[in-house]
Amino acid sequence: MPEPVSHSQPRWHYSPAATWMNDPNGLIWDAGSWHLFYQSNPEADTWGNMSWGHATSPDLLTWTEHPIALPHNETEEFYSGSCVVDVNNTSGLGSTDWPALIALYTSHYGPSSPRYGTQAQSLAYSLDGGSHWELYAGNPVLDRASANFRDPKVFWHSGSDSWVMVAVEAEHQQVVLYRSPNLLDWTYLSTFRPSHAVDGAWECPDLFPLEVEGTQERRWVLLVSINPGGVAGGSGVQYFVGDFDGVTFTPEHHAAGTELRDYDWLDFGRDCYAVVSFANVPDGRRIVIGWMNNWDYANHVPLTGGRSLMTIPRELTLVRDGDRHRLRQRPIRELPPTELRSETLQDGDELHVRGAVIAYRDGVLSLDRRRAGETSFHDRFPSVQWADIPQGPPSVELRILVDTCSIEIFAADGLVTITDLVFF
Ligand code: FRU
Repeated sequence: MPEPVSHSQPRWHYSPAATWMNDPNGLIWDAGSWHLFYQSNPEADTWGNMSWGHATSPDLLTWTEHPIALPHNETEEFYSGSCVVDVNNTSGLGSTDWPALIALYTSHYGPSSPRYGTQAQSLAYSLDGGSHWELYAGNPVLDRASANFRDPKVFWHSGSDSWVMVAVEAEHQQVVLYRSPNLLDWTYLSTFRPSHAVDGAWECPDLFPLEVEGTQERRWVLLVSINPGGVAGGSGVQYFVGDFDGVTFTPEHHAAGTELRDYDWLDFGRDCYAVVSFANVPDGRRIVIGWMNNWDYANHVPLTGGRSLMTIPRELTLVRDGDRHRLRQRPIRELPPTELRSETLQDGDELHVRGAVIAYRDGVLSLDRRRAGETSFHDRFPSVQWADIPQGPPSVELRILVDTCSIEIFAADGLVTITDLVFF
């Protein structure tokens, strides 16, 4: 493969200064700051030595990179996970006056560990708002002696008065659910079995309630990243809408067909993966960030200082569609509206954006980046992505965010998104 050329740092998207980044981890608002932890290789600009990097922002748009929060050590690497604020000090690790920030992460054990070859869930805590971290002496807190048990997302479930964890048995395409009173002792609840897209590892799940727009009703949304086997090829994120009763998640809708496009996808582009939501958001918005890359070529994309960037933070809502529901995504309202280019495409129209061709024909929106800028660094990078626009109207409204090396299209008021890297 040819050596990638460096591109400048994106303006609106978080990207580390010099090192490798993959999944967002531990997204949380706490004491006036948005925290973005992420999978980092502190020593290089390709994947490895997994540790938690750390950045904070006052507004979700301008980020300050901090020292590595959880550096890998001789026995373990720190794979993906989540953070909570333990306001009631259920863990006993902080106090109610001074609640601990708690990270649940996956210990990926190395050869010098007696647990080598397995992954288990562990806990770290910070008593100074995320700058310094202690590893819990009783780690791991949840071990199934499994090689691919990872990516815990934890939240407080008021219905059952307990913490709930969703994690994956990645190679079995299962989301497993656990409950805990104190974040330390976990009891098995249920397993969400392989469903819809299953031709790849299931990773980075998230489960949260959302109000249905214009109603007082609420549904639960389960996000599941899959790699490979996503709708645009390689990495992708599917979602399920349904109900969670404190034990079991039950989807409301099973696709009639068996094609990838019969399922529900968070994004139809090539570069939107490991999407998870912020915890503890003061105004109750459900805000998500994804990794803007694809495992098909992630280690080869041109540098922007470091390697990889995150998507723009997006707010999720739910929309009724007949007897089921669909996700709507909009860029966070903190983004100056002038940054979003508004376009209406009539049937047959084409739009050229930095060398990529966005087209609308017969109810299908497509983005062709085969001849957009630099594509030769990997043979799977040049590609055309496409999505059906619901009800296929004669025209489609787009809002497009173009940043240094990325295009994010929010179509049909956010019912369809296409997220792609474009190194023009
Ligand atoms: C997803 C993933 C996670 C894992 C992490 C390791 O991109 O494979 O399942 O925790 O990356 O970096």
